Amino acid sequence: MTIPAPEFLPTLDDVAADDLVVIGLRKHTEGPQIFSHALSESVSALLADAAVAIGAEGGMDSTWRVPAPAGLSAKGVVLVGMGEEAPTADTLRAVAGFAAQSVKKPERLVFALAHENATEHEAILEGAILGSYRTDKVTADKKDTTPRIALVGEPTEESVSRIVTQCEAVFTVRNLVTTPPNMLNPVSFVTEVEKLAKDTTLSVEILDEKELEKQGFGGITAVGKGSINPPRLMILRHQPADPSRHVALVGKGITFDSGGLSLKPPTAMVGMKYDMTGAAVMAATTIAAAQLGSPAAITTYLCLAENMPSGTASRPNDVITIKGGKTVEILNTDAEGRLVMADGLQAASALNPDLIVDAATLTGAARIALGERYAGLMGSTEATAQIQAAAAEAGELVWPMPLPPELRTILNSDVADIANVKPGEVLGGMLSAGQFLKDFVGTNDEGEDIPWAHLDIAGPAANSSGPYGYTPKGPTGAITRTLISLVMSGNTPGSKPAGQ
Ligand code: BES
Ligand code: MN
Ligand code: ZN
Repeated sequence: MTIPAPEFLPTLDDVAADDLVVIGLRKHTEGPQIFSHALSESVSALLADAAVAIGAEGGMDSTWRVPAPAGLSAKGVVLVGMGEEAPTADTLRAVAGFAAQSVKKPERLVFALAHENATEHEAILEGAILGSYRTDKVTADKKDTTPRIALVGEPTEESVSRIVTQCEAVFTVRNLVTTPPNMLNPVSFVTEVEKLAKDTTLSVEILDEKELEKQGFGGITAVGKGSINPPRLMILRHQPADPSRHVALVGKGITFDSGGLSLKPPTAMVGMKYDMTGAAVMAATTIAAAQLGSPAAITTYLCLAENMPSGTASRPNDVITIKGGKTVEILNTDAEGRLVMADGLQAASALNPDLIVDAATLTGAARIALGERYAGLMGSTEATAQIQAAAAEAGELVWPMPLPPELRTILNSDVADIANVKPGEVLGGMLSAGQFLKDFVGTNDEGEDIPWAHLDIAGPAANSSGPYGYTPKGPTGAITRTLISLVMSGNTPGSKPAGQ
């Protein structure tokens, strides 16, 4: 995914006659206020009058198109609502994103929102680019409505290239997740990621179904064996000369989750192409980390399989052996994510990294608990604090969740080390899934648990309602920027995250 380079204008006098200028509109008890410091007082006053005349109040996630007033030689103005609260960098990112999402033609948008510092200016650029994403439809009638992005004022070259790279990573996730499951299976997922990794310094290793079985990846093998599309484990490695620390990333890559023999009902199956989002996020994060020269060494495991029912599929009551030797009794083949992740976590643990982070659309329970905007965050104190700091920096939403020990006990099996579910149990589904994964996180040389964070992204992976902020309807790419911030941060093993 290559994003066209954003353009920068020294002042608003440099707008072209066919540009659209994006100006903020803040809600206020005494009437809407124009939010831009690039405008003359007279132009500002005319725009405020126009806003009042059309009843534009300035609420978030709204835009109003008005003609360019006298004194502004543009094609038109997009007024974008900013809400009532004093805007933060996160507000500006969202507002710029919504403006970019709202345009229906491939016009140039010149963002002239007020900002107080470089961070806010960069947030505007990032939001504008994120909002310029357009879903690639499978259609004969291709219409491109992607706007071109321009800003008044220019952030540093370093920050522009960092922001563009981050946005490209988000777009990569959105594109991969959008791809229909008849066009994306474990084998073609690997091919796509190989293409993306080709021009980077990443090294790539791929285990096919024979190697997976031979090397003891029993979880990925068990989930993948019901499908005509065989499973894969893709390993990406970023190895700087003198790494600050070693981070292992593990992503759930179920390219379609039918439930397997524990088949999902029809309505629950719709949307299950999204079940590879964790792997897409981890792949895109790793590629961006390589492009940006992350100081950390990174090893990424993409656990890829298609969960299908058939004569060769795993059955409830099968006992399988995960990488490393622990056994699992499968009691529900629809709890397949934790099986493939168990293999990934064990392989990651064997490297004794300083930190393991996993991302998975693991449970419907995460959606019920947290809705569609927050990722559920579980794991060790040290690791989850680092994720929270990174999420705050990226302006993304994560929420800490407990791992209650009694939800591990319910997974005890009569015939294996652990069962993948307790049949019929509905309480704390996100947390018991987290407890299952915890069993497969190893210890370091000192016998201490390896710092580990688990992100259940079943909620924020996709947005089922309309566009808001910089987030489109459909696949969002959420959590990608958080993880890029994490792997780019200078945190060394044992150090406290920023602000702690
Ligand atoms: N991929 C699903 C989780 C999911 C559900 C993601 C809805 C996004 C939207 C996962 O593999 C699954 O099926 N989980 C089961 C677990 C259950 C069998 C214990 C679930 O959540 O119902
Ligand atoms: Mn499932
Ligand atoms: Zn699943």
